[in-house]
Amino acid sequence: MLKGARVTGLASAVPERVLTNYDLEKMVDTSDEWIFSRTGIRERRIVEPGQGASHLSVQSSRETLKRAGVAPEELDLIMVATVTPDSPLPATSCLVQSELKAKNAAAFDLVAGCSGFVYALSAGSQFVKGGAYRKVLVVGVDILSSLTNWKDRTTCVLFGDGAGSCILEPGEPGEGVLAVSLGADGECSKFLYIEAGGSKLPPSRDTVSRGQHYIQMAGNEVFKHAVREMESSLVKALKECGLGMGDLDFLIPHQANVRIIDALRRRAGLKEEQVVVNIDRFGNTSSGSIPIAMEEACRDGRLKKGDIVGLTAFGAGLTWGTAILRW
Ligand code: UT7
Repeated sequence: MLKGARVTGLASAVPERVLTNYDLEKMVDTSDEWIFSRTGIRERRIVEPGQGASHLSVQSSRETLKRAGVAPEELDLIMVATVTPDSPLPATSCLVQSELKAKNAAAFDLVAGCSGFVYALSAGSQFVKGGAYRKVLVVGVDILSSLTNWKDRTTCVLFGDGAGSCILEPGEPGEGVLAVSLGADGECSKFLYIEAGGSKLPPSRDTVSRGQHYIQMAGNEVFKHAVREMESSLVKALKECGLGMGDLDFLIPHQANVRIIDALRRRAGLKEEQVVVNIDRFGNTSSGSIPIAMEEACRDGRLKKGDIVGLTAFGAGLTWGTAILRW
């Protein structure tokens, strides 16, 4: 019999260094006015050189374990959702396992663009509901500053670095993760990609000099798909657990653009105060964005026990996904 999978710990970690829109005005031909009005972003956090995804993951995970009252050696599985691992090998989750001294945990990374955390939460909840594992650490982390062309104003103003994590443990049916809906459309991979640095086009002097290791994005195309697919996955996931839009207490969307979030909110018929938005302070932190926002809403008391919460994300792949939780 499938159990429930509840969230027992939640924390986040962002770098100390703040990069404001005014700082960016000195780097590329842009303005605080353009960035804020088009995206809702005022500032973002950027890691120091030498700090990779494992650095923020470990910081966030240590606090998560503490809040959940779970010892590292009790963890059965560590999943890290990221497109920016410390390096291609080993998986960042193995580095996290080592730093935490979680010696009994299996570990793997998961790549699903900015939807990574929702994908990982969905996978983690299946391990718990099915009874295979009792304590699963799910981390969403990205250091997009490492893939950003700081001379390209169309992308460099959008991203920030950050991590968030939670632990999933068995609960009663109807508790925690109630339903998920995931989707992908590889036909649209051309709208958000990095050309080089993988097995098809390994990094070389040429690829670097051509800037092929940087993020490329057709923003308008991504925008259109984002609103449509997030809404449809939200509807599907709610239906899966016998609920509708009117049952949602809170929506925690991926923080890519406040205009995307507003469009989704209007389509979902939600009030402003029902939607968690922190993009102004962190920009788009990819896999980090939902757990960072979720932790903030939990810490400031907005999320209350029993609330129905929708987590919905969209990203490169293209991928999208929603998880419905009873808090
Ligand atoms: O998390 C993964 C998923 N990613 C997303 O969801 C991103 C989705 N897309 C977006 O958020 C928006 O499309 C952007 C914020 C990326 C762009 O906003 P937009 O309203 O779609 O602007 P645009 O690309 O149509 O550009 C409008 C104008 C252009 O100038 P012209 O051709 O009209 O003269 C751009 O060159 O704004 C110009 N522009 C800028 N100007 C000042 C583009 N970037 C900047 C900039 N500063 N940073």
